[in-house]
Amino acid sequence: MKVLYESVINPQTRHSLGEYYTPDWLAEAIVTEVVTAPLSQRVLDPSCGSGTFLFHAVRHYLGRADEAGTSDVDAIRGVTASVLGVDVHPVAVTFARVTYLLALGRERLSRQDRPAFSVPVYLGDGIQWGQNSTLIDTDALVVSTGDGATLFADELRFPDRVVEDAAQFDALVSDLADSAARPNRPPAEPLLRGVFRRHGIHDADQGTITATYRTMCELHDTGRNHIWGYYVRNLARPIWLARPQNRVDVLVGNPPWLAYRYMPAEMKANFREMSEARGFWAGPSVATHQDLSALYVARAVEQYLKPGGRFSFVMPLAVLSRRQFAGFRTGRWGGPNLGQMDVGFDTPWDLHAVKPSFFPVPAAVVSGVHAGPARALTNSAESWTGRLKGRNPTLAEAFKHITRTDPVTGGPSSSAVRSPYAARFAQGPAWFHASFSWSTATRRAPWAPALDARGSVVTGAAMRRRRGRSCLGTPVPSRASS
Ligand SMILES: C[S@@+](CC[C@H](N)C(=O)[O-])C[C@H]1O[C@@H](n2cnc3c(N)ncnc32)[C@H](O)[C@@H]1O
Repeated sequence: MKVLYESVINPQTRHSLGEYYTPDWLAEAIVTEVVTAPLSQRVLDPSCGSGTFLFHAVRHYLGRADEAGTSDVDAIRGVTASVLGVDVHPVAVTFARVTYLLALGRERLSRQDRPAFSVPVYLGDGIQWGQNSTLIDTDALVVSTGDGATLFADELRFPDRVVEDAAQFDALVSDLADSAARPNRPPAEPLLRGVFRRHGIHDADQGTITATYRTMCELHDTGRNHIWGYYVRNLARPIWLARPQNRVDVLVGNPPWLAYRYMPAEMKANFREMSEARGFWAGPSVATHQDLSALYVARAVEQYLKPGGRFSFVMPLAVLSRRQFAGFRTGRWGGPNLGQMDVGFDTPWDLHAVKPSFFPVPAAVVSGVHAGPARALTNSAESWTGRLKGRNPTLAEAFKHITRTDPVTGGPSSSAVRSPYAARFAQGPAWFHASFSWSTATRRAPWAPALDARGSVVTGAAMRRRRGRSCLGTPVPSRASS
């Protein structure tokens, strides 16, 4: 999917969104390392791109579910409640949804008793630019429509019960936006009765939705409606995920990498303000090198990760030593206007000596826990070295050629020894040169998916032919009801 995605989106758009796509072996290594109890941890990739991390998190969950003897029905319900993704790019979201279905595998998807589910990959602004959490109300999603054109801003308000189910919420917002834009709009009362019935709106929420609908009509009639439906749908899932009860146990991924000098003017202003508030702004001499990746990781941790939860992200290697990342490295994020948040960093992985290079700039993996006391990120990293073979090796193939060296002892690192592959690779000092063959349903190319007994996969197009619009985020009906 990644390969296909990169061929569909032009390089300029990809650059502006800070897109470098993680190779499968690395995403799998991160997921395996940080998701230690897949059946009981909820995992989010807050900038999921075409879904590489989601694929491996889903496979990791399903592998454990198989070992535990979990039925396919329960495994589908469980995994779709546990592995979630968000991306701001609509095409990325579509690809990630297909990737998710590929990870579930044909066998599970074609079962007669397959439960209804929707693929939990959402369009959304993961960083919530400029929001600083002001939209989180106690019991509703509230969007202020102030655009500077009117003296008083109106609110679009959606009760929690309505926001809870992503697919239903999207359908409701589209329905309201389409109705508000109808040329000869019928009176609100009868029209909304139909909307409430179609979307199963609770009696107690109908007054709020009616007021919101009237505001949408007003926005439309005064020529200010263009983006609200889209905007509301984009914001809803990240805000819902940020509620304390919905936060996740693990964050994984590869945030957008984008230097300040390449940001558009409005993003620059927001970025600077949000970086300063967290003590990340390192001053004018390195301003042009300040990078979105640090702010993105910090925002993801502060918004979406439970206290005590773990995170692991691919970042530019510069994060380990360069001045523009000094504030991030302290692990004490915040300031007078924001409050303090402490994270404890683990030993990072330095990947610059893994060849051939997989990104245009060297990379590291930065992990830690959302808990105090703060433990700073150090330059003393576990070093990964080796030359990989093949275009998209699996983790097992990659680990045949990678040496992981502990920063203190200079020997094999303890996490390599802890790794689930360690036993397979342990051959005395040459632990990294195992020679066995290990097959998995990892994607080598989107048009030639590998097969295995449980998760035999089909192409996205074939999947869509079979399941209608299932990969586009609409609920997948159960076989019984289709
Ligand atoms: C470096 S790519 C990583 C993609 C994927 N996690 C991977 O490693 O293959 C960064 C992704 O961040 C997304 N992105 C950029 N800004 C975002 C935002 N504000 N909210 C959500 N996603 C965003 C881009 O669309 C892109 O897919």
